Amino acid sequence: MRKNDFVLGLAASPRPKANSTILLDTLLMAAEQQGCRVKKIEIFKFNIRSCQGCGGCDHTGECVLDDDMHRFYPLLEEAGHVVLAAPIYFYALSGIAKAFIDRSQALWVRKYRLIQTPPEPQGKGYLIAVGATRGKRLFDCSRLTMRYYFDALNINYERDLLVRGVDKEEEVLNNKEILAEAASMGRTMGK
Ligand SMILES: Cc1cc2nc3c(=O)[nH]c(=O)nc-3n(C[C@H](O)[C@H](O)[C@H](O)COP(=O)(O)O)c2cc1C
Repeated sequence: MRKNDFVLGLAASPRPKANSTILLDTLLMAAEQQGCRVKKIEIFKFNIRSCQGCGGCDHTGECVLDDDMHRFYPLLEEAGHVVLAAPIYFYALSGIAKAFIDRSQALWVRKYRLIQTPPEPQGKGYLIAVGATRGKRLFDCSRLTMRYYFDALNINYERDLLVRGVDKEEEVLNNKEILAEAASMGRTMGK
């Protein structure tokens, strides 16, 4: 059962002062101020192997790889709000973000093969993505990935915050409008 006041933040940039993580922190702080319980996972700090495509989860919905990903499946099923914050690498989500997403195949199996999830989406998903260039199609690939990822989690793709033209660490701190938007996303949670 998802908890509407539980916000799970997934930080997918390995940089210590990452722009995407700064925006995630801003959002989580605002959500916490609304009374939400928030949990941030710096996914790059964990041992998360690539999906092997082995079909090991096909009949059980349980991934057979033995690593840190198992800590996160229950949280992904409990959170009322799931926020992924990632840098754009080669016009896509960072590799660790994609590895994390691919390992959620076990949850796709629970939904589509084992029919274990409720028929209607139960929670909300959000993407924060930051790229250096201003390309028109900079976020196309990531948005498409998130659409199907959130579907596998059985949550609605609620909103995204897509930031162009930001490259150096902490550079996003100069953009008060974007910071305010991240905070406003956080404030909508738990209501
Ligand atoms: C491996 C790599 C690939 C990148 N590819 C792109 C890209 O395709 N398009 C782009 O606009 N920026 C690209 N960037 C720049 C980052 O998206 C940019 O520095 C962003 O601010 C990083 O976010 P972060 O501070 O949250 O890590 C790339 C950076 C790296 C390290």
